[in-house]
Amino acid sequence: MRAVLMRRNGGPEVLEVVEVPDPEPGPGQLLVDVSAAGVNFADVYQRQGTPPYGGELPAVPGQEGVGTVLAVGPDVEGFAEGDRVAWADVPGSYATRIAVPADRAVPVPPQVDPRNAAAVMLQGMTAHYLSHTSYPVASGDPVVVHAAAGGVGLLLTQLVKLRGGTVIGTTSTDRKGDLARQAGADHVARYDTFLDVVREVTGGAGAAVVYDGVGRTTFDHSLAALRRRGLLVFYGASSGDVPPFDTARLAAGGSLYLTRPSLPAHIATRDELLKRAADVFGWVAEGRLTVRVGGTYPLSDVSRAHADLEGRRTTGKVLLLPE
Ligand SMILES: NC(=O)c1ccc[n+]([C@@H]2O[C@H](COP(=O)([O-])OP(=O)(O)OC[C@H]3O[C@@H](n4cnc5c(N)ncnc54)[C@H](OP(=O)(O)O)[C@@H]3O)[C@@H](O)[C@H]2O)c1
Repeated sequence: MRAVLMRRNGGPEVLEVVEVPDPEPGPGQLLVDVSAAGVNFADVYQRQGTPPYGGELPAVPGQEGVGTVLAVGPDVEGFAEGDRVAWADVPGSYATRIAVPADRAVPVPPQVDPRNAAAVMLQGMTAHYLSHTSYPVASGDPVVVHAAAGGVGLLLTQLVKLRGGTVIGTTSTDRKGDLARQAGADHVARYDTFLDVVREVTGGAGAAVVYDGVGRTTFDHSLAALRRRGLLVFYGASSGDVPPFDTARLAAGGSLYLTRPSLPAHIATRDELLKRAADVFGWVAEGRLTVRVGGTYPLSDVSRAHADLEGRRTTGKVLLLPE
């Protein structure tokens, strides 16, 4: 089989495609033929070696995908050869084959296109917990979604709208702004003006919640955009991490709240994983959540996929299609 291997941390050029032996499905595992692997910003941090994502080397990156079960290991119940499954938070997904722990595998309903399934496992379940758990958006809430045309951003914008919130989305270009609007964003702004837009839309009160996956370049304005006792959900740092933070700023801003959540803590049990995946797949099947696969790349173009994601040239989901 073929896999992307990373022997050292660095730029996109450290990703190479190599031949490796097929994995054996051990106890509790499924051997899966991968038809699409998700590319996520966390894979960029892992490649760069940014803590806490670095990990041991050499490594096969990627943590999300969809595929067909080729063989079932010992002590597995409920899965059979030929089943279509998807997963998130399973290392080693940039490969033609992978051993997936059965308790992390989610059956893909026949109504959901396999590529769309791969596209929503990580970013869709993230959008789910952000809008339903970190801050359960209520009707009429003014909500900021940064990078609204990105993988998480387009899905999160739609879920906030499904819950009745008003979305102020940020993007870097007009084209991305159009995509955010198509996803339902009520207002679209650039990063240097969104604070003014929030104040205008809320009559000076501020946003109920800001979902910030951009980090260094947005953090200060995200805090400033909150209403009294508002919540900053700081869930990623695509522009770089935020310097050490003086918690007195939360009091000065009006008793603000800050959280830095992660997906694994929101799908830690099998019940929670299946519930979030079922909700997301259900919305996709019903046409209430539209999936945008903005770019597909063969495994051999993995370096270009990473360069495009880091270079802000992608929209929606980026997928690798192992050939
Ligand atoms: N905590 C969690 O559970 C969790 C789960 C999934 C993802 N995340 C985080 O969510 C964020 C979005 O992830 P994603 O995979 O959906 O990526 P993405 O949003 O598709 O891509 C990143 C976007 O960030 C924006 N951006 C702003 N400043 C940037 C900069 N200096 N360099 C690169 N991009 C910049 C760009 O959009 P514009 O060009 O429009 O600015 C870019 O397209 C990432 O920080 C990721 O780590 C967190």
